Amino acid sequence: MNLQSEVESILKKVGSSLGYGEDFVVSFSNRPELSDFQSNSCFAISKRHSKKPLELATEIVNNIPQNTKYEFSAENPGFINIRIKNGYLSKKAQELLEDNLVGVEKNKKRKKVLMDYGGANVAKELHVGHLRSPIIGEALNRLYKLFGDEVIADAHLGDWGLQMGLTIAQLQEEGVLDYYFKGAGKEPIITLEMLNIAYPKASKRKNFDEEFKQKASEITLYIQQKKEPYYSAYKKIREVSVKEIEKNYNELNANFDLFLGESDAEAYIEKTIKIFEDKKLAYESEGALIVDVAKDGENMPSDKLDENGQPYLLNPMPPVILKKQNGADVYATTDIATILMRNETIKDLDEIIYVVDGRQSSHFERVFRACKMAGISPAEQELLHVGFGTMNGKDGKPFKTREGTTVKLADVVNLLIEKASEKLRSNGVKPSRELALKIGLGAMRFGDLSNTVTKDYVFDLDKFLSFEGKTGPYIQYTVARINSIMAKTNCQGGEIKIESDEERKILISLLKLIGAYQVCYKENSLNTLCSASYDLASAFSTFYNNHHILNEKKVERKKSYLSLCELVKKALVQALYVLAIDIPDRM
Ligand code: ARG
Repeated sequence: MNLQSEVESILKKVGSSLGYGEDFVVSFSNRPELSDFQSNSCFAISKRHSKKPLELATEIVNNIPQNTKYEFSAENPGFINIRIKNGYLSKKAQELLEDNLVGVEKNKKRKKVLMDYGGANVAKELHVGHLRSPIIGEALNRLYKLFGDEVIADAHLGDWGLQMGLTIAQLQEEGVLDYYFKGAGKEPIITLEMLNIAYPKASKRKNFDEEFKQKASEITLYIQQKKEPYYSAYKKIREVSVKEIEKNYNELNANFDLFLGESDAEAYIEKTIKIFEDKKLAYESEGALIVDVAKDGENMPSDKLDENGQPYLLNPMPPVILKKQNGADVYATTDIATILMRNETIKDLDEIIYVVDGRQSSHFERVFRACKMAGISPAEQELLHVGFGTMNGKDGKPFKTREGTTVKLADVVNLLIEKASEKLRSNGVKPSRELALKIGLGAMRFGDLSNTVTKDYVFDLDKFLSFEGKTGPYIQYTVARINSIMAKTNCQGGEIKIESDEERKILISLLKLIGAYQVCYKENSLNTLCSASYDLASAFSTFYNNHHILNEKKVERKKSYLSLCELVKKALVQALYVLAIDIPDRM
């Protein structure tokens, strides 16, 4: 049991024995200089009993049996303040040091969760828009596992859409694919560079070249029908691109159990459509096959008319499209068929979680509704979209290059390395690529994850890379500093005895950190863990500045300090692991 609930149960017990019931809540103190925990419950409870809050608080405190763990005091105008006694705090510290999970308790019920993150699109170069998903997704994956859940991570690559048709149309025209289309020459070597040029070119062209766009749509349909030679050319391009995507995700510390794509759902599309048709949920409209998912109160006509003279709809909830007029599958088709595939191939999934840009929330809402209506997702299964905000530039707009184009992942990585190297050099450390990357990526991840997931944030690398303040490098630095203290002594740690305020502060920060995991797990956002890690690191820094660990003359004290260092390190290493931030060996 954690200390907060332990205190809470003491108050509940005394409260009910005195006839005031059990409505006592305890939180960490707002005034840490006065107490560790506080309870404000006497204000509400005293009202019900026509008493003054302070009178009630005093009565409760006076009736708490003497104990070795906590000191309670009633404070004006009716708070109960609670201080953990040093002896008990020391005992807890020792327990935490010996605990594998440093205080985190595994769930009683183990959930089975599929996490869908990554979502890179084949044939398109990875850009910053695709960074948040693997960053947040990987951290949630590790967090859920820490609580004992079984997590299956799937990259769900975008490989069944128009971008494939566009790329092939472009390369075919350039003669690169003659081997497939004219049976001419040898099998071509298709490089990444070729794709990186072909797709953007084709993508621009489709906006003014109607004929080209038509052709690309047709090719997309042929690929989906596995028609040759389109399908062979498709497979070749997919292979080149997927190899690169795998490399990128590796570098980003994103680990997947399944590296499937939209195309893998193809085998389930016919069955999916049949389910909707059999249940009379799908119907034809203007040649397309669609499913209505709107509920009462949605799609309500308003007085205003649009340019076609049709009334604007309030609470719009457009239908789900299963097949386009030309018979092609769209984004929703593959997402729904993928849920069917997941449920048929993986048994008893409690949850499917999508870590995808928040701007896709309407898409997921509609996909989820359709799956529930058709029974493709059982009623008890939770389908959840964890939608994240945009990574903005300092101008508050989506992060772009100076020229206004989207920033490529490769550019970001180079920038991280360059800036982290600069930082290291100014600290007198010779940077290697590997070291700079660890720090750069750590800075970026922490900068990202310390924001509430749903919010937009400003991608400010200079701020993220600071070695001071609430940043990834600061936490990494704290661990590196503890490592260097340990390396400088032969003295072994010993029993932890908490005495000074600085030591107490470390322990309180640590208790808050343990609580932060639970908050993050509930909110599917890592910001609380980031703040709590920072608070612990900064409590350690205050302790370090006020106590000479290595020069301490009293051996018992020194041993206790060293074990405390070990405990802080263990807690920070666990937090960094969850955030998927690597720890450099020097900084
Ligand atoms: N490829 C998609 C995109 O670029 C993201 C995929 C997200 N996952 C999903 N199951 N739809 O927007």
